[in-house]
Amino acid sequence: MGKGIEDALENSTSDASLARARAVSAKIEAGIAADPTQFRVLTGDRPTGHLHIGHYFGSLLNRVRIQRAGVDTWVVIADYQVVTDRDGVGPIRERVLSLAMDYIAVGLDPEKTTIFPHSAVPALNQLMLPFLSLVTDAELRRNPTVKAEFEATGNRPMSGLLLTYPVHQAADILFCKANIVPVGKDQLPHLEQTRVVADRFEARYGHPDGADGPVFPRPQGLLSEAETVLGLDGAKMSKSRGNTIELRMSADQTAKLIRKAVTDSDRRIAFDPANRPEVSNLVLLAAMAQGREPAAVAEEIGDGGAGALKKLVTESVNDMLAPIRARRAELEADPGYVRGVLRRGIERATERAEATLAEVREAMNMTY
Ligand code: TRP
Repeated sequence: MGKGIEDALENSTSDASLARARAVSAKIEAGIAADPTQFRVLTGDRPTGHLHIGHYFGSLLNRVRIQRAGVDTWVVIADYQVVTDRDGVGPIRERVLSLAMDYIAVGLDPEKTTIFPHSAVPALNQLMLPFLSLVTDAELRRNPTVKAEFEATGNRPMSGLLLTYPVHQAADILFCKANIVPVGKDQLPHLEQTRVVADRFEARYGHPDGADGPVFPRPQGLLSEAETVLGLDGAKMSKSRGNTIELRMSADQTAKLIRKAVTDSDRRIAFDPANRPEVSNLVLLAAMAQGREPAAVAEEIGDGGAGALKKLVTESVNDMLAPIRARRAELEADPGYVRGVLRRGIERATERAEATLAEVREAMNMTY
């Protein structure tokens, strides 16, 4: 998502609906522990740049955990979404391949997880046509994510794809009948839109005679409870601010960035996010990289000052990323393998999308 959008969305979800979403998430977690095979997860990203530690702690770790728990996991590389609010695709092919490398390097296993760019799956995209007939333009204009993204583009005219991208996202989720979508709370309105599409499809067309159950599941959001790590300047992590550590960076580049991180003049290191946001964020970063409590990390550094803190952050982050970076370097040296992963992903997604589209045609009485 673009700059400022997450800020704008922060308050779009009421406390009550957040509490509901948390309760649903807790139930899903219990369900995964009991029987992971009852779920299919779909998540995804726009290929707009390289993944960084914010993505790693915020979503990638969670995906890997879910995959390892035995849930059928699908990851869409949303290449069409790149052109919702910009004129060109940029170096899209390279970015898609790089994103796939990041995924595999962090532990998404192509044997278990289906990774695919949605532009390469025609039947998925065709679902957008019937789905578009189920929503109104007023509804889409009210969608908080569409509104926020539109506002972030300045006064640029809204493209038809930006207006309708929640419907495209519904196609991403429903084509494979995913019933869980891991989300940050800013993405909850999207999921609501997807459920609305599934409900209305059911109400209007139902299921072909003789078949059981609804055509589409009602996907639920699985909220990520990870602490949000800020950028190295204490502001929201964003590529354009240059305050992030990308997974693919070298240990030296990482050290250099952390050396420039903003701190304060109090030598006593503490975890006190309200009063000392920058220092606390660095403490949190080291703690998350080591899988420890921030207070314990702060205690350990004690009066060591910003120098000792930065040294510890650098070591912890580089240690954590070392195996990921090594794996990524292997993948970079073997682009044929990565393309093969995408081709297999596209094949699996196409098979699933064609089966779903056939059901939709059946339900709509459009079989010829
Ligand atoms: N919109 C998401 C983003 O901006 C990417 C995405 C596309 C997605 N389709 C999805 C996420 C379906 C979850 C489910 O990062």
